[in-house]
Amino acid sequence: MVLVRTALPDDIVDIAAIYDDEVQHGISTFATEPPGPDYWHERLSSTHPGDHVLAAERDGVVIGYAYSSSYRPRAAYRHTRETSIYLAAGARGSGIGRALYDELLSRLRAGGVRTVVAVVALPNPGSQALHRACGFERAGVLHDVGRKFDRWIDTELWERRLTVSGDR
Ligand SMILES: CC(C)(COP(=O)(O)OP(=O)(O)OC[C@H]1O[C@@H](n2cnc3c(N)ncnc32)[C@H](O)[C@@H]1OP(=O)(O)O)[C@@H](O)C(=O)NCCC(=O)NCCS
Repeated sequence: MVLVRTALPDDIVDIAAIYDDEVQHGISTFATEPPGPDYWHERLSSTHPGDHVLAAERDGVVIGYAYSSSYRPRAAYRHTRETSIYLAAGARGSGIGRALYDELLSRLRAGGVRTVVAVVALPNPGSQALHRACGFERAGVLHDVGRKFDRWIDTELWERRLTVSGDR
């Protein structure tokens, strides 16, 4: 059974292992060096009401996580959050991503966030399918904005509106 809950400092070793593998072997992050534990402690200690870090735990081990954070730093973006999600390789394709995102989006909606943005480096059919399944809509593609493993990489922007357009 998988438990989705708020991530804790003790989860950082597991979370970092999942992320660092993608840093070194994947294109879904444009980081090229593992960021180290301080990066994760900073994320977990954010006090912004739209910032959350969630962990998916199975048998006492964190097998995936999702978080929300600033989309861009300028003040007028404060009701917009960017989300990110990573699962350990053996945990993919069995609904855990969906469970993490459903809980994250529910917390963001409860916190008054208006629009959620996700940036998907292409190709990534699993991430595209997850975002579509969670109600995101494709907003456009930026071409050749990343370069990793000696090739150019496009990113696709996805958006999820959490409040109706008539809301003030
Ligand atoms: C992308 C990722 C988070 C998806 O999580 P997941 O647990 O594998 O996805 P789920 O099993 O919850 O599936 C969610 C939906 O996507 C579909 N899906 C999942 N993987 C898929 C794939 N490889 N191809 C096509 N569809 C896929 C599922 O069928 C499901 O659709 P449905 O709800 O309509 O049935 C996970 O694969 C992952 O961690 N990938 C590596 C890191 C990464 O790319 N992160 C995203 C950065 S933007």
